[in-house]
Amino acid sequence: MAVDLEKLLRPVDSPLPAYPAKCMMLANGEMMVVRQISREEVPDLLPHVEPLIHVERDYYDIVSVRVYAELLGYYRHRVQDEYVLVGQVDGELAAIVNGRSVDSDIGMSYHTLAFKRGLRVGAHCFAAKMEYHLDVLKQKEVLIVAESPIGFRRWMIEYGLEKRFEMPHELGGCPSYSLTRELFDKARSSLVVGTRPVPEELMKKAMAGILPPKDPPKGPPDLLAATRARGDSTGTALRAASHPKKKGETKHA
Ligand SMILES: CC(C)(COP(=O)(O)OP(=O)(O)OC[C@H]1O[C@@H](n2cnc3c(N)ncnc32)[C@H](O)[C@@H]1OP(=O)(O)O)[C@@H](O)C(=O)NCCC(=O)NCCS
Repeated sequence: MAVDLEKLLRPVDSPLPAYPAKCMMLANGEMMVVRQISREEVPDLLPHVEPLIHVERDYYDIVSVRVYAELLGYYRHRVQDEYVLVGQVDGELAAIVNGRSVDSDIGMSYHTLAFKRGLRVGAHCFAAKMEYHLDVLKQKEVLIVAESPIGFRRWMIEYGLEKRFEMPHELGGCPSYSLTRELFDKARSSLVVGTRPVPEELMKKAMAGILPPKDPPKGPPDLLAATRARGDSTGTALRAASHPKKKGETKHA
């Protein structure tokens, strides 16, 4: 008898309410729309996450590689009850946040990835996913971990998260912290911003397509690696190029 193995491998999602989109003005005056994406939009995100896997700065590498796997897990139906929100500025991808509903009481925050730096787009999108867990899904708490010092400062310190070290987090390897309803209510006036409904024109632009980030984080150029690749293992050519000889200066080997 033929067995449809895919039916066994694929978890059955619970029917969850959608995140109501919102918009906010960033510190530079631009408007950001935060909205939930559908599973079909995941392939539009992957090409922008992939290059960050190679950026060590601020732990973009470890976070991006995990986000990539989580996005694929969602797209290929290998995780139950995941959701993905994006922040878009003029259509352009500014941030991705995701997580999962464990049960009616507990939310599992996965990751926050900012593509546009210095405007708190990551912080605003993190607040949006906390709204999703606590206001829309009406869960009692959200389990959170940090993989970078900036993340620790943004979540554990700014929200004053409670330790839940005895509770394992699905990301593994790091102790869990918790955002309870009480903590979220305290943070609302300062950390949770945005208005609804999103004006029609702004929403139309966001839904029209996820545009590539204009200035995504990049690693420093490894100039010495480039010279090594050209058989110049000591980087002599590079040093000579960055300190050109003055006129009349004697040339040394
Ligand atoms: C953590 C993260 C989501 C926070 O995003 P954010 O709220 O938009 O904040 P930014 O990363 O732009 O800025 C954080 C700090 O870095 C500084 N910074 C770093 N690079 C910067 C840049 N290119 N331009 C401006 N500021 C920069 C800012 O001064 C800011 O300082 P502040 O906390 O005093 O405001 C984001 O840093 C990120 O995606 N990091 C890599 C992945 C990661 O660590 N995710 C969280 C896992 S726990």
